[in-house]
Amino acid sequence: MKSYYIYTYGCQMNTADSERLAHQLEQVGYLPTEEVEAADLILLNTCAVRETAETKVFGRIGELKRLKEKNKNLILAITGCMAQKNQAEMFKRAPHVDIVLGTHNIQHINEMIAEVQRTHKHQINVDMDNTVLPELQAKPNGTFFAWVPIMNGCNKFCTYCIVPHVRGREISRPVEAIVKEVTELGQQGFKEITLLGQNVNSYGLDFKDGTDFGTLITALDGIPGIERIRYMTSHPQDMTKSMIDALGSSSNVVTHLHLPIQSGSNRILQKMNRHYTVDHYKALLQYCREKIKDVVVTTDIIVGFPGETEEDFQDTLQLLKDVRYDMAYTFIYSKRSGTPAATMDEQVPEEVKRVRLQQLMDIQNEISLDLNKPMEGHNFDIIVEGPSQRDENTWFGRTSGNKMVLFPKDDSLKVGDTVTAHIDRAQTWVCYGSIIK
Ligand code: 5AD
Ligand code: SF4
Repeated sequence: MKSYYIYTYGCQMNTADSERLAHQLEQVGYLPTEEVEAADLILLNTCAVRETAETKVFGRIGELKRLKEKNKNLILAITGCMAQKNQAEMFKRAPHVDIVLGTHNIQHINEMIAEVQRTHKHQINVDMDNTVLPELQAKPNGTFFAWVPIMNGCNKFCTYCIVPHVRGREISRPVEAIVKEVTELGQQGFKEITLLGQNVNSYGLDFKDGTDFGTLITALDGIPGIERIRYMTSHPQDMTKSMIDALGSSSNVVTHLHLPIQSGSNRILQKMNRHYTVDHYKALLQYCREKIKDVVVTTDIIVGFPGETEEDFQDTLQLLKDVRYDMAYTFIYSKRSGTPAATMDEQVPEEVKRVRLQQLMDIQNEISLDLNKPMEGHNFDIIVEGPSQRDENTWFGRTSGNKMVLFPKDDSLKVGDTVTAHIDRAQTWVCYGSIIK
């Protein structure tokens, strides 16, 4: 019996790809193992979005050399964005790697493994010439929620971002294929799906037949069994009013909107190639707040983009105070070679970036707490996800708005149950509640 172990880094797109890789491996007889030491195949599905992600992966690849030395038949495969970015360089840097498989080629994993077994040579496939996405089945990790990629790639070329370089141009899956997958998921007992794309608001534009994200949202409305449809990530330039109307009127789309702004300074937004202004963003959000009842809004912000002055940074702080996000994912700008921002003048010193990040987080934490506090004393529907990371006896679930609710373990509840929680105590990141039905 052969076994496999997958390390997944980075975004949800990688999590979804890992589930699709796992399915293929199991088709040829591999079984999952919890013990990396025991695996016959180790796969690292990697991320290149920031340098810290890459450092982590290279560290892990280095550690795995020991296992390769112990077991000559062990196969080590690198997939995902770092595989695409580093290509054959990967073998130079880590000769004990057997397979480098690019972001457009995960459907070829089993052929690559067979080739390694036959030839005992490095195998690489990093072609990016696909124009149609392969329809790949997944082995979902969850029992009630599933990731549903609706497209791959990005055409935006934000000047800091490596994604368009490593995931290629946007290719959408046909509406029918997505509806079919979600219908089957509903039949299998899945309740919650998350539609994934680097920029879901440009979904379908590559078909050039009028299909857009709104079309998809409308087509997915009312599929039996599907209680919640999540989606990420949205882009302020491409999100239209009609898409927001579709989101707001759908019976199963959640009340959570993740709408990255990246910076509160128009000058920096322009240098980032984001194609919108702070005013446009605010107007768009206003429309979302009108159309999507009780919408919970989260964002991504980068501090220390090249040329970011104290004044630009103050604009970002002001934006946080104006918009009042429920949560912000904050990042220190990381230089990605091959992107325009990497060679821009006026790179911000690391120390300044760290100080700015801390200031940003302090303000955001206060706002998050402020917005969570009024949840106290109210009831919210949650879907039970299981034990929390900290403690086996504390379980958690999420609201439609993606707020995490912790509650004492209750043996009458099982993972995937939809229940009502009464919020007793709200904190910055989580709420504590009791299940009332
Ligand atoms: N440095 C820091 N953050 C980045 N992101 C993307 N590229 C970089 C980079 N080079 C952030 C953006 C994006 C999120 C997924 O990662 O905020 O929305
Ligand atoms: Fe990167 Fe911008 Fe595309 Fe998002 S929209 S993946 S930040 S290039």
